[in-house]
Amino acid sequence: MNTKDILHLLSQVVHPEKNKDIVSLGWVQNVQIGADAIALALHFPSQRDPFANTLGQQCERLLKETYPTHSVQVDLQFAAVQRAVKTNAAPKDTLPEVKKIIAVMSGKGGVGKSTVSVNIALMLAQKGYKVGIVDADIYGPSLPKMFGVEDEHPTATEDNLIVPVEKYGVKMLSIGFFVKPADALLWRAPMVVNALKQLLLQAQWGALDFLFIDMPPGTGDIHLSLVNELKLAGAVVVSTPQQVALADARKSISLLQHESIHVKILGVVENMAWFTPAELPQNKYYIFGKAGAQRMAAELQLPLLAEIPLVQSVCEDGDAGIPSVLQEGAVKDAFEKLTDNLQLQLTLPS
Ligand SMILES: Nc1ncnc2c1ncn2[C@@H]1O[C@H](COP(=O)(O)OP(=O)(O)OP(=O)(O)O)[C@@H](O)[C@H]1O
Ligand SMILES: [Mg+2]
Repeated sequence: MNTKDILHLLSQVVHPEKNKDIVSLGWVQNVQIGADAIALALHFPSQRDPFANTLGQQCERLLKETYPTHSVQVDLQFAAVQRAVKTNAAPKDTLPEVKKIIAVMSGKGGVGKSTVSVNIALMLAQKGYKVGIVDADIYGPSLPKMFGVEDEHPTATEDNLIVPVEKYGVKMLSIGFFVKPADALLWRAPMVVNALKQLLLQAQWGALDFLFIDMPPGTGDIHLSLVNELKLAGAVVVSTPQQVALADARKSISLLQHESIHVKILGVVENMAWFTPAELPQNKYYIFGKAGAQRMAAELQLPLLAEIPLVQSVCEDGDAGIPSVLQEGAVKDAFEKLTDNLQLQLTLPS
């Protein structure tokens, strides 16, 4: 038995869509024949192929039937993986059908990343865009609650793509659907990054105009890897006007602007900019300080995308799983301005 015999045998395996056999397509590669083992790679020129598993199984079955004394190993390889090995230049991961991936970061926890991500996503969906959102906060996922889908369990397609949960016209996946925060505490950063990339890259998003990533708080290894390895259209930085939040927001900005990373910062969102009681809608109380994020944005020459007021209903809506932009009012107006400015920034050169 030699490579030619193997190729001859596998030329019976036909790709149903291309209507050609996998040998003529040049997909059978790296055939290795040992005394009692056969190994080969099936190389797909795309990032995924709906027939990959079936074709792999057909090859295995044929080889095992023909050479029953040999063990058989068929490796499925996809274009992105091969390119990484070949060039060694670590190409950025991307999703061909997703036009823009945008990370939402803050540095400090609890300043409103998730609230901002969810409401921007919804606002854009209401304007008719196709939008997805990923909850990347493995230690404290909150999107399932904010969308009111905590009891949902995402399913998988036949070719093992995760099917996002859809609510309010937005497709959503949360790491919280798959990993309990208590278990996540034991995970090291590379494991978290792998799980998150799988969630992002092996899901059936379909065609999307925007995919938002609601990042965990902080500026650690997880953030570094994600912003470095994904092809992002840009990042939004959220901060309250408070000094401690601003200091952490600056760390996020430094990370994004680092010369080896260089992700475009689409702008700063000042969340909880002032408090307005429902019964006194004209009054503004600057409980976390006045215009702190606005000043930071000006100093760093970054756009201020919007000031979002601190309104009791935002918190209640988040807990109730009904995002605030679904109702008319000051919060919806602020998010309308935010999305308009965000879209403007996306059109400008970096
Ligand atoms: N503008 C606002 N007005 C009122 N409450 C708000 C506002 N923005 C956020 N909140 C509330 O503050 C809390 C923290 O917000 P959120 O979960 O969005 O922050 P986060 O930055 O994502 O937090 P974490 O770092 O834990 O992921 C939530 O209870 C949310 O409902
Ligand atoms: Mg959050």
